[in-house]
Amino acid sequence: MDYNKKKTIKDLDVANKKVLVRVDFNVPLDKQGNITDDNRITAALPTIKYLVENQAKVILFSHLSRIKSEADKQTKTLKPIAKRLEELMKQKVVFVPVTEGEELETAVNKLNSGEILLVENTRFEDVVNGEVVKRESKNDSSLGKYWAGLGDLFINDAFGTAHRAHASNVGIAANIAQSGIGFLVEAELANLSKGIDNPATPFVAILGGAKVSDKIGVIDNLLNKVDKILIGGGMAYTFFAAQGHKVGKSLLEEDKIEDAKHYLEIGKGKIILPIDSANAPSFEDVVPTFSDTSNDMPTDVMGLDIGPKTIELFKKELTGAKTVVWNGPMGVTEFKNFEKGTLEVGQTIANLDGAFTLIGGGDSAAAAKKLGLADKFSWISTGGGASLEYMEGKALPGIEAIQDK
Ligand code: 3PG
Repeated sequence: MDYNKKKTIKDLDVANKKVLVRVDFNVPLDKQGNITDDNRITAALPTIKYLVENQAKVILFSHLSRIKSEADKQTKTLKPIAKRLEELMKQKVVFVPVTEGEELETAVNKLNSGEILLVENTRFEDVVNGEVVKRESKNDSSLGKYWAGLGDLFINDAFGTAHRAHASNVGIAANIAQSGIGFLVEAELANLSKGIDNPATPFVAILGGAKVSDKIGVIDNLLNKVDKILIGGGMAYTFFAAQGHKVGKSLLEEDKIEDAKHYLEIGKGKIILPIDSANAPSFEDVVPTFSDTSNDMPTDVMGLDIGPKTIELFKKELTGAKTVVWNGPMGVTEFKNFEKGTLEVGQTIANLDGAFTLIGGGDSAAAAKKLGLADKFSWISTGGGASLEYMEGKALPGIEAIQDK
């Protein structure tokens, strides 16, 4: 994807302007509403700091989770995020608890240069008076226009939301005089482009996660770019079934067996499947038994991780790689007994000499963090779905909507 021509924050004169900024503050919260990982907030700080230092009036928009009822609004407010941002920025953040109306307009108009305001969760607009209307998620044209009318310029720094065409990214961009991408989006695009579009070779992709259906587009797009695709995780079992093996009680997508056959055929020599599996009698964290995957698996087990022989095989395949793109865990990392495949593969990638190593966000990013490997990769994307769609070769509407230089 060539997004080099997109205007960036540095192409715009932001001083004393009301700058609308779409960030992705969709961070995980625990049951008490505490932020459990503020990575997406810290990742947006360079853009926010730049705007503050350059005397912009900074008006931030973000969604948080999905809003399907009025009750959801009680637990999905951005208020705790405003507080965390205030701590990180060491300056006041005006939090506006509504998404439109006089209270918001007054607060925006009172903002001085160098000050920051955070608007309430943009997806509150998806439910109005108890009715699911999806004004934000379906990019209601009047909403994008209204939000755009609050400011002078628009910066999109929400990479995690770049695959969505919503009112708070595409809608605002379509209705404002000038727009550009922020520093986070710029860095995400540069790193994804380096890993996916211009990879140094040998290029090895390693794909995992539960479902083949989630990764078909990635396999399809990467097959003619990579030297090897290593496949682990739950999705591997559908590939074994495609080879004609029984997979016991393992996760199986019957309707994807034909697709798996097709990719095994066209990816001959490139697609590397596990050679053994770590199993449990059911979905539970117990000491695993192992089985060979070149034969049928026992009927009374389910595979929950790659086995030790596969770990060695994958290590060998990764040796000497100059680009590695990793998306999806190798096993059930929530279970201590089944995190080994992901941990060992992650460690191997992290320790590769002189390789560009990219994690495509989502579950694999969470796994890398949990395993203490996060700072050992060249780049970990802040976007799960967005980086997946980039890897599929799909256009990202949130970026497309930004003006060219
Ligand atoms: C994400 O977490 O991937 C982004 O914030 C997008 O969220 P969504 O899948 O709810 O649109």
